[in-house]
Amino acid sequence: MKMKKAATITIVALIYKQVNAFSTTATTATTRETNVNFSDWIADAPNEIIEWKKCQVEGTIPSYVKGTLIRNGGGIWSGEDESYSHIFDGLAKIHAYRINGQEVEHQARFLQGRWYNEYVKKNKQSLPAGIGTGPVLDANEIPKGGISHTAQVLYDTVVNFDNTPVNIWDFTPHRDTTKKRITAITDAPPRTLIDVNTMDTLSSSTMNSIAYGSKGYELLITAHPLYSQNENKDDTSVDSYNVAVELGLNGICVNLVKETSEGKRTVVTSIKSEDGTIPYTHSFGLSKNYAMIVLQPLRLNPAPDKQIEFGFLRSMDHVDHTRVILIELATGRVVLDESIDEKIYFYHMISQAEIMEDDDAVVSLRLCAYQSSDQLTGEHQFMRLEKCRKGRHMRNKLHRGGKFCDVICNVKNQSVKVEWNDEINQGFELPVTRYSRTFNGEVPPSNELNVLQAHPRYVYAFGAFALGSQDYDNWGLFKFDMMKNEIDSYYQQDSVYLSEPVFVADPNGKEEDDGVLLSQAYFGHEQETKLLILDATDMKVIAEVPTGNVAPLDFHGTWIPS
Ligand SMILES: [Fe+2]
Repeated sequence: MKMKKAATITIVALIYKQVNAFSTTATTATTRETNVNFSDWIADAPNEIIEWKKCQVEGTIPSYVKGTLIRNGGGIWSGEDESYSHIFDGLAKIHAYRINGQEVEHQARFLQGRWYNEYVKKNKQSLPAGIGTGPVLDANEIPKGGISHTAQVLYDTVVNFDNTPVNIWDFTPHRDTTKKRITAITDAPPRTLIDVNTMDTLSSSTMNSIAYGSKGYELLITAHPLYSQNENKDDTSVDSYNVAVELGLNGICVNLVKETSEGKRTVVTSIKSEDGTIPYTHSFGLSKNYAMIVLQPLRLNPAPDKQIEFGFLRSMDHVDHTRVILIELATGRVVLDESIDEKIYFYHMISQAEIMEDDDAVVSLRLCAYQSSDQLTGEHQFMRLEKCRKGRHMRNKLHRGGKFCDVICNVKNQSVKVEWNDEINQGFELPVTRYSRTFNGEVPPSNELNVLQAHPRYVYAFGAFALGSQDYDNWGLFKFDMMKNEIDSYYQQDSVYLSEPVFVADPNGKEEDDGVLLSQAYFGHEQETKLLILDATDMKVIAEVPTGNVAPLDFHGTWIPS
């Protein structure tokens, strides 16, 4: 009898357990929301960690990963009753990871420039107003009377603006950490000098030393300098190249600028704007012998009122051509300057290759590009916060991401060919390769005799709307195989939002993808930022470093080996 009762109880318990398990599963399947808390990732993050804080490491970091990763982005967009409306305008905040074997230390702190200190001086209630990517909404600190709103904003933009939230550049990659010149930079001349050991802000500047005598004012310079690819680890000074737009007595010029590790700046070539309009470019191409500047069909609208109302990107004028300029580095000679009907819009270059054909060079610049300007200048441009913070339905109006696009210049024929890659359908942004931002002359190997410099085989990038999802918030980190024109492998997890990966090469590796990727990721369910270390061969996570902190969406950064 007892046994029978026990059996009955057991059977009832089992049935209950089954039903319960089923209902739990069913509830989970129907109510568990995917891609949660994306909005945390684009919210203000005022918390700072201003001393190196030890973090627990889950997994094993390869022993060759020794150095400091510095990520740059915005940290605050809101004052008491006003807000910057574009993510690129946030007050610059860096997130640093110092890695030594299995020890990882972390800092998160605002850059202490003039722009940020203005905000602190006003009790963190009021944002400085300047011409930015988006307007400052409802700015209330503009003095009334005496000086017009426009004049005040222009004055602040020119005299006080030193906010540098876009990238980190090491002008001294050959020096040890005691003698480095590490800067935070943006799409304009201001720079912030950072102490790589302490992460303290050492100084900030609002403009560059004039590179072209006293003739001009440098208005724009890309946030993507590139190292000369003719240098090696033994060089005592490493040249960085960049492209700037200068206004001056010569009119409006696009300059290819070279800067040494000591800070000496020279203009390699100055190219006149053909019609007096002001072009905008966010990056350019550089290989061993040539620089390629692609001027997309966008021009800065010179009317300050319009820039203040819409921000500089949404107020752009559109022209009907793309101008492609190829410069021979050894002589500074412009060897090709062609305007083509095809419209190419882009933020980021990926790589540049050089091929010799009948003693003449064919140079190919690979971009992450768009056939329309929506992602840059449209109503639903990338991370316009006043839209994107309204929720998922608004973010789902964003562009699905860039495509691979090769711009190929043939010096002999003076021709420009544009090839869009339609085989890879996953949109992407913030592309990097093993060779991005390295200075040691390492270029992709090639078996073909006429190839002086090849495109890398593998490109790593984030993609929203990952894997065919209709949800913008579905993010993944992709490894593209450009030889097979396909996704080689990827990392994608529910509610994990990833930043631009940085490649750290395995010094004993033999293949291009032997190394790891470092990516700062926000975990929506845990509401915590973690550093992910992924095996670059198969995109599997080999270590995670939780920070106990929240870092907002960041843009670019660099790896400084120790
Ligand atoms: Fe960028």
